[in-house]
Amino acid sequence: MSVHMPVNYLRQTIDADRSHVWHHLTQHKPFESQDPRLYVEGRGMRLWDATGREYLDAVSGGVWTVNVGYGRASIADAVHEQLVRMNYFSGAAGSVPGARFAERLISKMPGLSRVYYANSGSETNEKAFKIVRQIAHRHYGGRKYKILYRERDYHGTTIGALSASGQPERSAQYGPLTPGFVQVPHCLEYRSQYGAVANYGERAADAIEEVILREGPDTVGAICLEPVTAGGGVIPPPKGYWERVQEICRRYGILLHLDEVVCGVGRTGKWFGYQHYGIKPDLVTMAKGVASGYAAISCLVTTETVFNLFKDDASDPLSHFRDISTFGGCTSGPAAALENMRIIEDEKLLENTTVMGARLLSNLAELQLRHSVIGDVRGLGLFCGAELVKDRQTRAPADEKQVQAVIAECLSRGVIIGATNRSIPGLNNTLCLSPALIATADDIDRITNAIDAALEKVFGNK
Ligand SMILES: Cc1ncc(COP(=O)(O)O)c(C=O)c1O
Repeated sequence: MSVHMPVNYLRQTIDADRSHVWHHLTQHKPFESQDPRLYVEGRGMRLWDATGREYLDAVSGGVWTVNVGYGRASIADAVHEQLVRMNYFSGAAGSVPGARFAERLISKMPGLSRVYYANSGSETNEKAFKIVRQIAHRHYGGRKYKILYRERDYHGTTIGALSASGQPERSAQYGPLTPGFVQVPHCLEYRSQYGAVANYGERAADAIEEVILREGPDTVGAICLEPVTAGGGVIPPPKGYWERVQEICRRYGILLHLDEVVCGVGRTGKWFGYQHYGIKPDLVTMAKGVASGYAAISCLVTTETVFNLFKDDASDPLSHFRDISTFGGCTSGPAAALENMRIIEDEKLLENTTVMGARLLSNLAELQLRHSVIGDVRGLGLFCGAELVKDRQTRAPADEKQVQAVIAECLSRGVIIGATNRSIPGLNNTLCLSPALIATADDIDRITNAIDAALEKVFGNK
């Protein structure tokens, strides 16, 4: 496919970008001598840049987002139809797609009943934190205000969400951070903090209880966790972890807030990551895959029990949830989300994710046999990571520059992969893969073949 734009126009566009756009999470010095990459067209899992070069996207838009793939005309049509009919009114009122999508979403989330719309992952997590704080003030004399978060998890870019994130390279230099957020240890068995224990999952969950007891259970309102940690290194929870976490939350009356911003809406092969573990959350937040990037939408979903705490005293003008999100009222979000969900169902993409995810993991395991630099492979569904190490015995992390060189080598072979990026000091060493849920066996093999060749080029065949 050729790019449908005149060459001069493309050149001027690149120049405009170089002169005026400040790219996310990017050091701009290199752009003084080279062009930034601009993607101009996409179809399925394929992208074309401004030079007309084709790529296979193994990271769904860079940040695990475009779950149903590029170029979905039916989503664009649904959004177009909705926008010309009724594009916006504040979320204080309802909308047709807002009501319909809430009903569809709740049908996938037994035990939950209310949807609050916003427009980014960070924002929806902030809503959850505010809900926890308001419950503490109204029902616990302000005491149960602390929110636990886990080392290596990420919950967003705003100061509140950063304060709840266990990734020091994201929060460094942006302090002072918000008080009241308390870190609990990570649960990555490959980097066990407790030596070689037989029941690592339970041990890692018990570490949460230790923090609760240290802080005082009557001061802890909630714990916010990713079902599978994403940007912190692709960490599926160890066996026994979630059951114990649920038990601990119940024991101390702590709300369980699951950040499904990455896992949600199919990424792991179920609608939601937590549904692999039989746990019952009180608050669930989601964003990226909700509309696959065709519109900005995020949702906070909660139980009727939590919801009712905000309408128990209608005579008190401060008792309801006094929160608003201007763009949470955009109808484009739920209109796109409805069609996105229809596609996932009609094309059986959850099933495809399970099958292709298993293929991806097994291909990576096979690469691990041939490349000693791969210390660990892990994942769930189309959400996989390969941790690179200098030495398998010591597990010393691979040099970050070499990890980046692997990404560059894959790119030069036309495959876009990712890695943990400005996340944990010294541990930005995990290759991250999150192809669209439409990936075929050929796509998966092409991705792992590119990694194979890139590892060989950067590290030699060991
Ligand atoms: C698990 C998780 N939560 C929250 C966020 C923040 O979402 P957003 O960038 O939409 O604010 C991210 C973003 O990468 C994420 O990975």
